[in-house]
Amino acid sequence: MIKIKNLWFRYRDSDWIFKDFNLYIDSPNRVVFILGPNGVGKTTLLKLIAGLLKPTKGYIEVLGFKPHRMNRQCVARSIGIAFQEPQLQLFLDTVEDELSITCRVLGISEDECRDRVDYLLNIFNLDNLRKRHPHTLSYGEKRLLSIAIALMSKPKILLLDEPTAGLDGKYFEIFKNVLRELYRDRVLIVIATHDMDLLFELQLPMDIYVLSRKSLYRYSEKELLGFIENKEIAALSQWTELIKALNTRLSLFNLNSLELKSAYSSLDEFIVKSIEVLCSK
Ligand SMILES: Nc1ncnc2c1ncn2[C@@H]1O[C@H](COP(=O)(O)OP(=O)(O)O)[C@@H](O)[C@H]1O
Ligand SMILES: [Mg+2]
Repeated sequence: MIKIKNLWFRYRDSDWIFKDFNLYIDSPNRVVFILGPNGVGKTTLLKLIAGLLKPTKGYIEVLGFKPHRMNRQCVARSIGIAFQEPQLQLFLDTVEDELSITCRVLGISEDECRDRVDYLLNIFNLDNLRKRHPHTLSYGEKRLLSIAIALMSKPKILLLDEPTAGLDGKYFEIFKNVLRELYRDRVLIVIATHDMDLLFELQLPMDIYVLSRKSLYRYSEKELLGFIENKEIAALSQWTELIKALNTRLSLFNLNSLELKSAYSSLDEFIVKSIEVLCSK
């Protein structure tokens, strides 16, 4: 479904973000996580997949086409993207308008459009906000709305950039339920995040990639489980379990996890970094 071969990419005047980078995702039957520290290129990767950026060199194919060569409407019919900052996607007067504008852009009939809007407002629990101005919504509501917009076209691939930032409590529950529903509908979900909680709470089959400056590491959920010998994925929801397992692994290589930890500002970064270190062994 997504084939990236020998990709080189840099922004004008920037260093290389991707150097000879490869990624193959061939089945929709997984949730794909792209993990990695800030600034490593997660957002850039999603934009490349969505055709919003053009590879400097190399090859990107998504659902059999080259997204940066297609016109925007064609791409939007099969790839939905919700950006890191939901407010940047919102510019109309009501929640309902934000959703239905997509139909006009994509040429979806009015009847179908109405059904789709109703369906999405319902599953995202935004129905009572349909006449509200998007800017008056809470951050969590804006986040859900931006994901609903990305789903208007019934895409085969949904790209989510840091979807859980500011998404707490009931919004997080709604979000997880929607992902489960999309998974059942065989939508390929690609999530760029540094939120490890999501990774452990989702409990759907997943592929885990860790982006680092040097390369890309791939974990299947089974491999990740290898860190936590013989425990069920459910047990992963405990941070402590993961940290214990990482500590054990790190000590095998005479690495001091505390030292490593103090070098990183957040627990998420620490864990991602630890996984990187372990993989490079
Ligand atoms: N439009 C841009 N022009 C130049 N450099 C950029 C641009 N957008 C992002 N970058 C740089 O590219 C790198 C990767 O950014 P990004 O993909 O946003 O990383 P992540 O999402 O993993 O935090 C960072 O060093 C960032 O500063
Ligand atoms: Mg980002």
